[in-house]
Amino acid sequence: MNIFVTRALPDRFRRALTEAGHTVSEWTEKRDLSAQELMAACLVADALFSVGKNAIDCAFLDACSHLRVIALCSVGYDNVDIGEATRRGIPIGNTPGVLSKATADTAFLLMQSVARKAFHKHKEILRGHWGFFDPMSDLGIELRGKTLGIFGLGRIGMELARSCRSAFDMPVIYHNRGHNEEAEKELGAQRVTFDELLRQSDVLSVHANLSKETTGIFNRDAFSRMKTSSIFINTARGAIHHESDLYRALEEGLIWGAGLDVTHPEPMDPSHPLLQMPNVAVLPHIGSATLETRTAMMELTVENILAGLDGRRLPYCVNPQVYDQRDPLG
Ligand code: DGY
Repeated sequence: MNIFVTRALPDRFRRALTEAGHTVSEWTEKRDLSAQELMAACLVADALFSVGKNAIDCAFLDACSHLRVIALCSVGYDNVDIGEATRRGIPIGNTPGVLSKATADTAFLLMQSVARKAFHKHKEILRGHWGFFDPMSDLGIELRGKTLGIFGLGRIGMELARSCRSAFDMPVIYHNRGHNEEAEKELGAQRVTFDELLRQSDVLSVHANLSKETTGIFNRDAFSRMKTSSIFINTARGAIHHESDLYRALEEGLIWGAGLDVTHPEPMDPSHPLLQMPNVAVLPHIGSATLETRTAMMELTVENILAGLDGRRLPYCVNPQVYDQRDPLG
């Protein structure tokens, strides 16, 4: 069967697919495919191995309802219309678990970089400003004993909470729809309302999915309820915070600093004023960008593709309802 991959694949993963008897076509250009290019490539494919953020929307699914599997090489699936894929019986795979530690490490890196103004200080060296020593100017803040607030405490948030507990003895509060019993038992984490999360966090880190409820939830009103000494971190999705409200909140001193691995839109415009602020650290969406993690993500995606083409249940499936709705005699 034919598999279309939206990036060039490392040999090892291409081999895993071809040795199973499949034909692999890869998009090798160093730019994202347009919606039309993706559709055209998938019209002659049985499976889509999707790397990056191409929209898998209703128009695409209408044209490509013959696909036996769409395997995303990401844990996030906000680029996919899951309801429409399920309605057409197309299983969608993702890569949960394997990127939790690397993404949490990125949040930890941002938290420390903001607290010590590391990105700003580095830029100062490049500008030739490593000069006169003034002991009380342009100082950072310490994290020991400060309260970590997590918006959306799942696997990634849990890894960050563990690191913050062991490195800086930070108490953990979180806002979720339900209780996270593991976090409460292991780390003494305390579930709070959204308002309490905003008011009590010294570092507030976002680990929620992008959804209707979370889009733009960190807006001016939210920032104005946070401590003026607090740090906002987002490694989840850029659209969860309102970027110009964040800029104004920092300008006006409503919050102390921000660390972003995700922006809205991506890539961020290089002239964006957030990039010039001393208490801001921005990274280009590198949460899962380690050799170990990206390798593991590719492995899971290959497993999903092979299972889907074999007519087996995807081992890592976002919409397992597709299997419940299948005709038992079909
Ligand atoms: C994911 O897997 O969703 C990460 O954001 C990397 O894209």
